[in-house]
Amino acid sequence: MMQNHLTVDLGSRSYPIDFGQKLISTLGQRLRSLALRGQTVVITNETIAPLFLAQVETSLRDAGYPILPILLPDGEIYKNNNTLQQIYDRLLEHRMERSTILIALGGGVIGDMTGYAAATFLRGVDFVQIPTTLLAQVDSSVGGKTGINHPLGKNLIGAFYQPRLVVCDLDSLATLPRREFVAGMAEVVKYGLIHDRDFFYYIRDHLEAINRLTPEPLLTVLHTCCAIKGRIVSADERESGQRALLNFGHTFGHAIETLTGYDQYLHGEAVGMGIVMAADLSRRLGWLGQEEWLDITQIIRRVGLPDKIPPLSIDAVLEAFSRDKKVHGGRPRFVLLQGIGRAVVTADVPESLLIEVIRDHASG
Ligand code: NAD
Ligand code: GLY
Repeated sequence: MMQNHLTVDLGSRSYPIDFGQKLISTLGQRLRSLALRGQTVVITNETIAPLFLAQVETSLRDAGYPILPILLPDGEIYKNNNTLQQIYDRLLEHRMERSTILIALGGGVIGDMTGYAAATFLRGVDFVQIPTTLLAQVDSSVGGKTGINHPLGKNLIGAFYQPRLVVCDLDSLATLPRREFVAGMAEVVKYGLIHDRDFFYYIRDHLEAINRLTPEPLLTVLHTCCAIKGRIVSADERESGQRALLNFGHTFGHAIETLTGYDQYLHGEAVGMGIVMAADLSRRLGWLGQEEWLDITQIIRRVGLPDKIPPLSIDAVLEAFSRDKKVHGGRPRFVLLQGIGRAVVTADVPESLLIEVIRDHASG
């Protein structure tokens, strides 16, 4: 069995991330080894429960944990206040106490909601992440951003609240629909682009094996992404500085998601398009060489992300930028590349260049 782990260093709130195969079946022992005691509540959805819930329950039961499963409907549209209320209702009906451990079994939707329920139920109970999508394994399960959507926007209600443990079981990716896996690869490519040039070229050189879910390169991918994210989160948990680099490709990506009504593209697909646009902006500023630019567009295509950006109105994109969370003093800020592996945040972008990029990529 292949195994590996690393620690997200946050002082007394530090926590391990375990990577490997067949890890779900060791969950109960792992909780014991971390001295987590209490009633466990496994929060998952109707799609994931038939795949993994029995394994999780067996492992917890064998280690002596009482278990309450909570099954939610599947979908981003349920990441809202009503579903959160259902979680609180079940916890209260079953008289859950402060020692309760909430376990998120699923993708980013389940992880974000469970984390927020854990942050708020009885003013905070322990929680554990078992991410089952690539996006959740390399991004959303690590770093403690939790929350729900509001009718006026995504992820507007939430809290920073760190898990006690993250368990990334490679085997869970075997059942993930291909389109979801490819969307997660946009975030994987992002880590190489913002922080680690060698990793970017490692992905390029091992792409076929990664796509076939070959354990060794996949483990390298998960470990490297989480190590980069863990280091950034340790240095800037609440995003007052370098954590913003994790949003590379997201300013353009969010604009595409907003303007296409959130139902045409998966988040990672929009981020893939955003990466291409942000890289092109970096190139036009003279910060990124032509060869590196070609390497980026080629990897986005080879990963299988959409290489055509939908037609968008320039004014609508500029308007969406002005509503982006990263706006500072009225000016949108962009994460851009000064070469592969080196990202910076800047508001110093001439509008004429922005317009050129939007026009050339999203003109239909
Ligand atoms: P998701 O949670 O909706 O999962 C995608 C789909 O795959 C769902 O239908 C799910 O039921 C299914 N699924 C999950 N695991 C499966 C498996 N192993 N086999 C088969 N089907 C499986 O989507 P996601 O991409 O994981 O997460 C997106 C969410 O994450 C968004 O709400 C986004 O806001 C959030 N997010 C949060 C952070 C953060 O830092 N907290 C970062 C990025 C994204
Ligand atoms: N997904 C971006 C962050 O966690 O900061």
